[in-house]
Amino acid sequence: MSKIQQNLMSLQSYVLAEEREYPGATGDFSWILSAISLASKSIGNKVRRARIEDVLGDMGDTNVQGEQQQKLDVLSNEIIKACLGSRANIGALVSEEDETPTVLRSHKDGGRYAVLFDPLDGSSNLDVSVGVGTIFSIVRLGEGVKGTPEDMILNPASRQVAAGYVLYGSSSVFVVTTGNGVHMFVLDNSIGSFVLVKENLRIPATNKIYSINEAYADRFPDGYRDYLKWAHDNGYTSRYIGSMVADVHRTLIKGGVFIYPQTTDRPEGKLRYLYEAMPMSMLIEQAGGRSIAAAGTRLLDVKPSSLHERIPVVMGSSEEVQHVERFLSKD
Ligand code: AHG
Ligand code: MN
Ligand code: MN
Repeated sequence: MSKIQQNLMSLQSYVLAEEREYPGATGDFSWILSAISLASKSIGNKVRRARIEDVLGDMGDTNVQGEQQQKLDVLSNEIIKACLGSRANIGALVSEEDETPTVLRSHKDGGRYAVLFDPLDGSSNLDVSVGVGTIFSIVRLGEGVKGTPEDMILNPASRQVAAGYVLYGSSSVFVVTTGNGVHMFVLDNSIGSFVLVKENLRIPATNKIYSINEAYADRFPDGYRDYLKWAHDNGYTSRYIGSMVADVHRTLIKGGVFIYPQTTDRPEGKLRYLYEAMPMSMLIEQAGGRSIAAAGTRLLDVKPSSLHERIPVVMGSSEEVQHVERFLSKD
C-alpha cells in the first residue's frame, strides 16, 4: 500500500475492510472501535488542554484501587462511558475507576460484548506533560451473561477478541489488534481521523532495554534482582516513563522488556489484570512477543478471581522475556 494510500486509510475503513474478511461479520467491532476512537479524541483534547482548563490535580478522594483519583481520571471515565453506552451491542463496561461493572443490556437484548478499560493510564504524569493513555479490551459475552462481576472474570482472556491503547504523546497514537496482527494509526488533526501508519507491527526479537522501577529493587524477589545484576553486566540500558502505555509502546516499537514485579508490600504487583495486563499481553503476543506473570506462566493463561485483581507483568521481546524468566525460575 503506498504512503499516500496508507495515510488516507482511516481506522474506520481499515476495521470495516478487515471485518469483510470474516464471513458473517456484523460490523460489531467497527461500531465499538469507532466509539473508542471518538472518546480518545475527546480525552486527548482534555489532556492537551489540562493546564488551560484547570482540570489538573486530584479529586481529593480515592478510587476503588485506593489510589488518588485525578480530575482527568474521572472526566476520561465519563467520556468513554458516554461514547460506549450508546453502542447497542455492548452488554457491560468495566472501568478501573468503577468498583463494579456498568451493566447496559443482557445478551438476549443484544449485549454481545463487554469493554474493559483504563480510561487514563499514567495519570500521575499528567501535570508534567508526559505521555499518558487509554487502554481497552473487548471481550465476547456468552449466552445468558448478565454482566455481573463474576461474569466478567470468567476466563476473560479466552473471550478477548480485540485489544488496544491510545497514547496521548507528541501525537495521539491508536494501536489495536482484533486477533489478526497489530496495526498502528496516528490522529491526523487536519482531517480529524486516525490514519494507518503501520500494518502488522512486529516487536524486535531482542534489544538491550529493560523498563522497571528500580527504586523498589530491595523489595523485589531475588530472581528480578539477579536479572538486573546480569543486565547491568551485559550492557543494558534502562528506560522507565511510569506510564504503562508509554513504556509498552516504546517496547513494542524498539523491543526490550517491560517489567512490573510483585514486591514485599505488593505481593500481587500493581498492574491490573483485566484492563492493563490482559489487553497489553494480547498486543505483545500478536506482535510476536511474550508476556508472562512468572517463570513458565503465560500471563493470558492466568484466570483472575476478582474484577480489579493485580498481577506481576514481564512482557516484550521474546528473547528479552526469556532472559528475565531464566532468573525467575531460580526463585
Ligand atoms: P494508572 O495511572 O492507570 O493508575 O496506572 C499507573 C500505572 C502504570 O501506568 C505504570 O506502569 C505504573 O502505574 C507506574 O507505577 P510506579 O509509579 O509504582 O512505578
Ligand atoms: Mn493504568
Ligand atoms: Mn488509570
